[in-house]
Amino acid sequence: MVLNVQATGHEMTMNCGLQHHILSTSAFLALAFSSCLFLSLFVCDHNESTVKARPESELRSKYVREYVQNKAVNLSDNVQADQLVSGKDCSIAVERRYDCGRDRALTQAQCESRGCCYVPLTGSASSGPPWCFYPATYPGYKMGALVPTPRGQEASLTRSTPSYLPRDITTLRLEVMAEEAGRLHLTLKDPVLTRYEVPFVAVSPSKPTETKNLLYDVEYQPDPFGFIVRRRSNGLVLLNTTVAPLLFADQYLQMSTTLASSVVSGLGEHYTGLTLDLNWTSVTLWNRDMAPHSDVNLYGSHPFCLVQEGDGQAYGIFLLNSNAMEVALQPSPALTWVTTGGILDFYIFLGPDPQSVVRQYHQVIGYPMMPPYWSLGFHLCRWGYTSTKATRAVVQKMHQARFPLDVQWNDLDYADKRRVFTFDPQRFGDLPKMVNEFHELGMKYVLILDPGISSTSPPGSYKPFDEGERRGVFIRNLTGQTLIGKVWPGPTAFPDFTKSDTVSWWEECIRDFYTKVPLDGLWIDMNEPANFVQGSINGCPDTELDNPPYVPDVIGGQLNSGTLCMSSKQNLSTHYNLHNLYGLTEAMATYSALLKARASRPFVLSRSSFPGLGRYSGHWTGDVRSDWEQLRYSIPAVLLFSLYGVPLVGADICGFEGDTSEELCVRWTQLGAFYPFMRNHNDRPNTPQEPYVFGQEAQAAMRDVMMLRYSLLPFLYTLFHQAHTSASTVARPLFLEFPSDPNCQTIDKQFLWGSSLLISPVLEEGVVEFPAYLPPGMWYSLYNGKPYSSKGQYLLLSAPLDTINIHVRGGHIIPQQTPALTTTASRRNPFLLTVALSTKGWARGELFWDDGESLNTFESGDYSFLIFIAEQTQLVSEPLRVNGALDGLVLGEVRVFGVPTPPTGVWANGREVQDYSYRSDTKVLTVSNLALLMSETITVQWKL
Ligand SMILES: *[C@@H]1O[C@H](CO)[C@@H](O)[C@H](O)[C@H]1NC(C)=O
Ligand SMILES: *[C@@H]1O[C@H](CO)[C@@H](O)[C@H](O)[C@H]1NC(C)=O
Ligand SMILES: *[C@@H]1O[C@H](CO)[C@@H](O)[C@H](O)[C@H]1NC(C)=O
Ligand SMILES: *[C@@H]1O[C@H](CO)[C@@H](O)[C@H](O)[C@H]1NC(C)=O
Repeated sequence: MVLNVQATGHEMTMNCGLQHHILSTSAFLALAFSSCLFLSLFVCDHNESTVKARPESELRSKYVREYVQNKAVNLSDNVQADQLVSGKDCSIAVERRYDCGRDRALTQAQCESRGCCYVPLTGSASSGPPWCFYPATYPGYKMGALVPTPRGQEASLTRSTPSYLPRDITTLRLEVMAEEAGRLHLTLKDPVLTRYEVPFVAVSPSKPTETKNLLYDVEYQPDPFGFIVRRRSNGLVLLNTTVAPLLFADQYLQMSTTLASSVVSGLGEHYTGLTLDLNWTSVTLWNRDMAPHSDVNLYGSHPFCLVQEGDGQAYGIFLLNSNAMEVALQPSPALTWVTTGGILDFYIFLGPDPQSVVRQYHQVIGYPMMPPYWSLGFHLCRWGYTSTKATRAVVQKMHQARFPLDVQWNDLDYADKRRVFTFDPQRFGDLPKMVNEFHELGMKYVLILDPGISSTSPPGSYKPFDEGERRGVFIRNLTGQTLIGKVWPGPTAFPDFTKSDTVSWWEECIRDFYTKVPLDGLWIDMNEPANFVQGSINGCPDTELDNPPYVPDVIGGQLNSGTLCMSSKQNLSTHYNLHNLYGLTEAMATYSALLKARASRPFVLSRSSFPGLGRYSGHWTGDVRSDWEQLRYSIPAVLLFSLYGVPLVGADICGFEGDTSEELCVRWTQLGAFYPFMRNHNDRPNTPQEPYVFGQEAQAAMRDVMMLRYSLLPFLYTLFHQAHTSASTVARPLFLEFPSDPNCQTIDKQFLWGSSLLISPVLEEGVVEFPAYLPPGMWYSLYNGKPYSSKGQYLLLSAPLDTINIHVRGGHIIPQQTPALTTTASRRNPFLLTVALSTKGWARGELFWDDGESLNTFESGDYSFLIFIAEQTQLVSEPLRVNGALDGLVLGEVRVFGVPTPPTGVWANGREVQDYSYRSDTKVLTVSNLALLMSETITVQWKL
């Protein structure tokens, strides 16, 4: 994403991760009151415990079981702690042991024949520190002299002693590139034979930055090779890779490093809290169709983590590699990357604050796309809306019960014999007509699209397969024929989206279907890709790829479990290398197909993900169960995808698998109203969970919170604009906004929208009162403006079933709009400004507004941009840029929180207004029944 500054006539500046438009004098000074001012250093009690992943031992792979058994056998051996074992220095503190047997289970003799230390420990053998570990010095690569290159420096690394792995790459080229003051890029490759590298990166290599400007220093240990990265400002060691040897064999690449702190977030997609458990755990990155639960690899892979240093600073590590990967975590704190192919391509982001780390990461993987406005409305879906009649009835009941609904969905029910690009002639015969009816109601329509193409229809009867075969678009097996697996329609072929012919064939399939069914977006499911048979209907051949020497701890025990054969062939490389990119490449092709067919901003929702997905697609967190634990874990899932550059994300509200309960569904709808992507989705066998099926009290609670979301959509849309143009986050963990507050480091039961709305949902059954953390500063209840001045404290909040606590941060102005049952209608309603004054009596806010569906409105300048500034006794709304999208829209109401005394008069654009009220208990001034054009400067003043 490159912002063309000249083309838009706007200058950009970054300030605390927020993008501002530079304007003249007073307005600019007002904007300088940025969120930075809130980053006060505050030390309080640490009474929020971290949510940790729970092990589920039955799911461990064969490898782990063997390892455990092997260890158990040795438990009876004489246990000695640190010692000198046959001349090697094995006196290494237990927490600093690095596993010499990650690749396979080792006996004592096997361990020692590797030249490693074997020192068993008491306690549980199934977890904890390794018994076989590297001695203090262990042979590795030897580094030659660093020489300058156009992009930085390079050196040659050579290994004279073979490692214990098959097919060492004995000579490596190290390249070190100081790409930005805060970004270090370091690669290790085979200089002779080109190895597979991940092809899709947004950033292009830049000229080296001058050393004097860097935020870091790099030091090298030449033999055995390792490097150290320090933060220049305080000398903190961020990485030290000399702690264990570098391994670089054909199918096993390993590098260990220490970390500057134990507060680490990332390395998704897993069922974890916001920060990871470093107590001798490991995470596996391998895209897999797997319902979220602990300790297994799920749908996506994000080899990125952010480390909070503890003083408000943070750094990030990104290993750009798409092979099956395992990251071992240990409490020293340290981690070990192990990957099964490709190259080692590391980016280190120096921040120094966490939001800058996120932005530096997104500069490499690409800034997120701008979603269509309607996609921020409410979505309703179920597997089991078995006909157009059933689907229409759902929409009708939603309208009758006065629930907002922007987007009605269908799962695979619509398809003829479950084949994509068809619709069932009986049950969905009038699908096109139904979609047109929805459009007339101001609604949109999305359906599911799986990648598997049925291969068993009679020749000539199913064009997607016939034409695909003719054009050679499918992934091939080792012997060159189309690989056939099995998904919902039965035997299926899998498109190879790394091939240009496939992309054009896919575009034609979507265009042809679109000419019949005028859908508005596509939901790309099953794109890990999922396969109901292992590898293919013919199994998999016995190759080094299908049975590699080392298999990370993947669920199912083998890389081809639930997916394709690793030896199958795609244009760019083998499936072994490309597997984790399948969803990303499908999202790219689907985005471009929708853009061509509909000529407006695409909406794609993908289950599988990889860095860069957010440029094309949103994400939902897959097949979550209808229970309270899954409700709780949905928050860190959403927040982590913000860090991964996929801000349009949410979990299936009320849960997908299993029956929901009324209370759970109300609480989930309340939380879900603050997921950036809000969809209620249910599985076939379960009791219904559409909002209208519940009792009146539950319905009222759901309706209220849905209406609240709709009223906040102008604000939410503006946050997406900021994410799209300056890589800020939409749903935001507290630590990004309050990095110096130790209380915020691990909080994942509450979160923010942008920097100004604090969301504190109920996450436990039967709870109607709970302690919530308010970071230091002024906060106001969004409902009634009740003020709370916090020194950084937990506050007991009341939360009866009809309430989710939302607080506005002092110093911020939230643009809202009168809600309606669709965004088509709400976008025409009057605006409302909620002004939350700081203790000093000021506030600011902004609104990005466009037609909500054209592509690149910001890039082409076809948008409106307003800033709002409040100071003690006045509010100014200043349009910095106006386009037709704002025509006729008015400001209808202003609420000012924190007005100390009753006003003696109120004026709007210089004319006295009568329609205002002031409450002395909450100190809220409300000015209503205004009708002031948003396209013009608006001034509202009050006299105290
Ligand atoms: C890096 O780690 C090695 C091995 O543990 C240690 O001897 C060395 O002091 C560390 N270097 C720094 C700068 O921390
Ligand atoms: C780490 O795990 C071990 C074994 O499960 C446990 O005994 C120990 O208390 C844990 N340590 C911490 C700091 O949680
Ligand atoms: C490739 O697919 C063809 C057709 O299904 C099959 O006959 C052949 O055995 C497969 N080759 C391998 C290596 O699985
Ligand atoms: C296959 O991939 C290569 C490398 O990216 C690309 O240049 C080529 O156009 C692709 N071929 C097809 C048929 O898509």
